[in-house]
Amino acid sequence: MTQKPYTVDELISAKAIAARVEALAKEISTHFADTDKLIVVGLLRGSFILIADLVRKLDLPVEVDFMEASSYGNATESSREVRILQDLRGEIGNRDVLVVEDIVDTGYTLKHVLEILSTRHPRRMEVCALLNKPSRRGTDVQAKWIGFDIPDKFVVGYGIDYAQRNRNLSHIGTVRFTE
Ligand code: IMP
Ligand code: MG
Repeated sequence: MTQKPYTVDELISAKAIAARVEALAKEISTHFADTDKLIVVGLLRGSFILIADLVRKLDLPVEVDFMEASSYGNATESSREVRILQDLRGEIGNRDVLVVEDIVDTGYTLKHVLEILSTRHPRRMEVCALLNKPSRRGTDVQAKWIGFDIPDKFVVGYGIDYAQRNRNLSHIGTVRFTE
């Protein structure tokens, strides 16, 4: 795919992300303090860096599993069609689950994933999302923990991509087309 030229303007610094992730990890550790083992379910691929940082700050016994859902293709517009491309490896029945998502935008991806996971009857299931675009929400889905509310702009970095690029940025920035 040919890409229109663009630059990335910093929106959230690496330092601000690290501080926020540490604060979220404290809250999550307190919330799940009584669990024998928390299953952290990362939604690929956008949450992979967040998960790596978050689990290292959790003061809990933790298992990590992954699921891949897709709604975007390579475009910057969301679609209501959500496909499960890869399911969890492990069972979550009667277990404590933390679903970790990169961005909640319209909310359709998260809603769909939570519906599927609920049919497996976890004991408790909560959501942590790094970014939230409240102005775009088309469903009533909620994340218990949110890193940052952001405006309705297309963002990249810290695991999040534009057409598979820029996941390796340490900060989060907005995409600005230069022509
Ligand atoms: P939703 O179903 O509209 O809530 O879309 C959520 C998914 O779309 C997220 O998990 C992201 O993978 C992707 N997404 C939403 N906004 C952005 C963005 O600004 N940049 C990159 N990906 C995004
Ligand atoms: Mg995603």
